[in-house]
Amino acid sequence: MRVSSIRLALPTAILAIAFSAAGQAKDLDRADRSKGALQAKIEYCKTCHGLSGQGYRGFFPIPRLAGQQPEYIENQLAAFIERRRENKYMYDVAHVLSSATRAALAKHFKGLNSKPLGGAPRKLIAMGKKIYEEGAPETNVPACMACHGAEAKGQEAIPRLAGQLHDYIFNKLVNWNKERGQDPKHPDISAIMLPTSHNLTKSQIAEVAAYVSYLQ
Ligand code: HEC
Ligand code: HEC
Repeated sequence: MRVSSIRLALPTAILAIAFSAAGQAKDLDRADRSKGALQAKIEYCKTCHGLSGQGYRGFFPIPRLAGQQPEYIENQLAAFIERRRENKYMYDVAHVLSSATRAALAKHFKGLNSKPLGGAPRKLIAMGKKIYEEGAPETNVPACMACHGAEAKGQEAIPRLAGQLHDYIFNKLVNWNKERGQDPKHPDISAIMLPTSHNLTKSQIAEVAAYVSYLQ
């Protein structure tokens, strides 16, 4: 190699290193900022959903997100955005979130393991357990356990019910056809729960909601 080409190559190499270091610093900076932004979103969610995602009772019950299945959370956020699921608060909250942020939030809440809030009448638990495990065959109500799992932890698109606020569950099952699957052109997985929500009586709903609300 000629001396002059070494002289030329050296500063270029140094420049290349300097540039890539600056590039890395920029990437780190961006990662830090997006981490900060995610943390801020999480704090925002918790102002309504409770400090450890355990749910919150204000004017109305706000659901527990702790331990919830990430796929279910992401599905619901998409449903709020596309107005397939009707809720005035959650449309505003969700429609500004990128899909990467939604996935990161879902992962965060899955990792929380807070104690159930409780509050349901304990005398309903025994009947609720029976419905959860056996259904009510005389009115075509299937066993909830068949889909939501023996411990009510859910799986993939099927939500966890363990520790969920009993009054939230009651409201959802009573109003299913007014809140879920609201875009007839885009039928969604919420249709699975439609017949069951119809076929349960209000007292059966209160019973099964009480049972799952105490499960850890
Ligand atoms: C202003 C209060 C408020 C804020 C802030 C809020 N939520 Fe909600 N969220 C609600 C309410 C109320 C519901 C219940 C809607 C219903 O009854 O159908 C809900 C429902 C949900 C559901 C559906 C849960 C289920 O079991 O079906 C998800 C998922 C959710 N919120 C995620 C989030 C995330 C993630 C954030 C933060 C980015 C957030 N929420 C911030 C009020 C809020
Ligand atoms: C065939 C499977 C299946 C059976 C059986 C079933 N579910 Fe579901 N359930 C689902 C799916 C799937 C969803 C999610 C729907 C969606 O994404 O909109 C769901 C959602 C729910 C929700 C909404 C949870 C939330 O956080 O908003 C409740 C409450 C619920 N089911 C209660 C029950 C009860 C109580 C029973 C038994 C009486 C039962 N389910 C039986 C599949 C099932």
